[in-house]
Amino acid sequence: MSTERTPAIPAGVRGATITGWGTALPDNVVTNADFEARLDTSDEWITERTGIKERRHGGSTAGLAIEAGRAAMEMAGVTGDDIDFVILATTSPDYQIPSTASEVQHELGIAGGAVDLNAACSGFVYGLVHAHGLIAMGLDRILLVGAETLSRITDQDDRNTAILFGDGAGAVVLEASDEGQLLAFDMGSDGSARKFLDAPIGGYMQMVGKEVFRKAVTVMVDSARASMAAAGVTADDIALVVPHQANIRIIEAACSRLEIGSEKVSTVLHATGNTSSASIPLALVDALEGGRVSPGDLVLLVGFGAGMSWASAVVRWTGHLPEVVR
Ligand code: COA
Repeated sequence: MSTERTPAIPAGVRGATITGWGTALPDNVVTNADFEARLDTSDEWITERTGIKERRHGGSTAGLAIEAGRAAMEMAGVTGDDIDFVILATTSPDYQIPSTASEVQHELGIAGGAVDLNAACSGFVYGLVHAHGLIAMGLDRILLVGAETLSRITDQDDRNTAILFGDGAGAVVLEASDEGQLLAFDMGSDGSARKFLDAPIGGYMQMVGKEVFRKAVTVMVDSARASMAAAGVTADDIALVVPHQANIRIIEAACSRLEIGSEKVSTVLHATGNTSSASIPLALVDALEGGRVSPGDLVLLVGFGAGMSWASAVVRWTGHLPEVVR
């Protein structure tokens, strides 16, 4: 059932659709063997406990965001003049001041406002909902980017965290449309759990992995169920799930409770590690370009992260599709 906090989008609200996308990954590949060579860990342990085989390190958050954003704008056939606002979801900004989004706005020649949004690994879905809100208020086009350089805030000598996190970016252009994609969403936060995963200003991430794992499965399942109920759909109706890419065991446990088969789930974490705000757009683009989405398909996006924060959204795919599935 829909509640005030988990609303179905009311009829008549101006909707939005994704008309372009892009991604960026640094060139430097860090494999499990690289960690094995210098930490007390093994490829077998990392693969079994997380599903991650390699991740990318390098670049700046702005640099990756600009590369992904430029590709999304090219695909949408728009220039900076056409974009009214930039939302950069990131938990690893380049500076404390100013926002990293201001560099993205300037370098891409974007005419409108720019803001960083930090909801940790839920950031992209939070950003998607905020973008729809701005479009409902009258803006025409928004660039939404999830970009991270988590390798900079991860102690590369700490086997508990170093193996998990990577760098990357994914971006989409959202345009006002009569055929809005967003059917329903859920966003939440439980700040009492904030100490399970945090990084002080200027310091490294610290994590109580077991607690994060346990809570992650619960909030993913509850949030996904809330969004699906608000949209008036069931797990059977969902064609594709794009979960936050933290750990394959978290994804499998959540999808099993939701009774969604692994064939419906997009995963890229074996190649990217956990890229926080970038993980959902990276996995979404991978599924789109792999021909896994058809017109009218229902896609469930679901993320969780430090805070703890969580967010999910049910969208009906009315946007662009690559040639492969047209
Ligand atoms: N290699 C080898 N051993 C490791 C290791 C590594 N990279 N990291 C931790 N260990 C050790 C631990 O020190 C512990 O040793 P001990 O039993 O001697 O104390 C042992 O492995 C088991 O650790 P545990 O924490 O019980 O493992 P786990 O099955 O919970 O897996 C995580 C650890 C981190 C992979 C898992 O808890 C996890 O993924 N949690 C969620 C993290 C996450 O998603 N964070 C981002 C949220 S957005």
